[in-house]
This record gives sequence, structure tokens and C-alpha cells, in this order.
Amino acid sequence: MSILSPFPTPPSWLQRIYRGALKQCALLVVALAVLAGCSPKTSSTAAAVGAGYPEPESMGAMLFKQRCSDCHVPPPPASRKAHDWPQIVGRMQNHRIMNNFAPITNDEMRQILDYLQKHAAG
Ligand code: HEC
Repeated sequence: MSILSPFPTPPSWLQRIYRGALKQCALLVVALAVLAGCSPKTSSTAAAVGAGYPEPESMGAMLFKQRCSDCHVPPPPASRKAHDWPQIVGRMQNHRIMNNFAPITNDEMRQILDYLQKHAAG
């Protein structure tokens, strides 16, 4: 044993257990990441999101449902005050970018905000 190493080399059976544990730990981390991750949902989410929003056929409503249902069921416009929406939607844009969703374009942003503020709580 070299004088530079303060620890003796562990016996090989211990090394094997240690490597096994590392591998399991890595698998667990990957599994958790997949579970916690915000994966793109299938169209079933969009369908589930259909009811209960004002002017559901309007362009604003369509964009809102499309762009806001990737991660959670979007709360209805009347759940927040008009002046709260820009800040919230800005934060949602960050969430999209951080999670590798295509960002909302400026034009879509304007239409979504128009829609949310028009039907907001006040
Ligand atoms: C990329 C994923 C993602 C998308 C897409 C997304 N959200 Fe969110 N949303 C989140 C996360 C994560 C939170 C909780 C953390 C937070 O509040 O920032 C949240 C929270 C919220 C909240 C509660 C927060 C508050 O301050 O009241 C509202 C309202 C909301 N989202 C609305 C929207 C709207 C509207 C859109 C579409 C413009 C949208 N979300 C799109 C991820 C997302």
C-alpha cells in the first residue's frame, strides 16, 4: 500500500456491493426524473380541458387550451384578476422554455392575454 493513500483498498466483495448500490441509485434517479418530469401530454389532456371556459370556440380560447395544458389543467380566466395574468403567463413562458416546450410566440401571447384578461375576475 502506498504511503499516500490513507485508506486500505476495500475487499473486492465490498467493491461489488458498492457498485451495485450505485447502479440502483442511478436507476432510481432516472425513474424519479421521468415521474417528476413534465412530459408532453397526449391529446387526451386537451380534450379533458375542453369544458368550462368562456367563448370556447374563440381563437384566444383555442390558443389558451393548446399552450396552457401541456403541464397542468389551466385554471379558468376568472380564477385570477386581469392585472395578475401578465405576470403569471410570463412565468409560464419560462416554465415552457425550461421544459423544452416551444415558447409561446408574441402574437399568441397577446391573444392568450387578451382572452384571459377579458374574462378575468376583475
Ligand atoms: C411547461 C409547463 C407549464 C405550462 C405550459 C404552463 N404552466 Fe402554469 N404552471 C406550471 C408550474 C410548474 C406551476 C407552479 C409553479 C408556478 O406557479 O410558477 C404553474 C402554475 C400555474 C398557475 C398558478 C400560479 C399562480 O400564481 O396563480 C396558474 C394560474 C397557471 N400555471 C396558469 C397557466 C397558464 C395560463 C398557462 C398558459 C399560458 C400555463 N399555466 C402553462 C407549469 C406550466
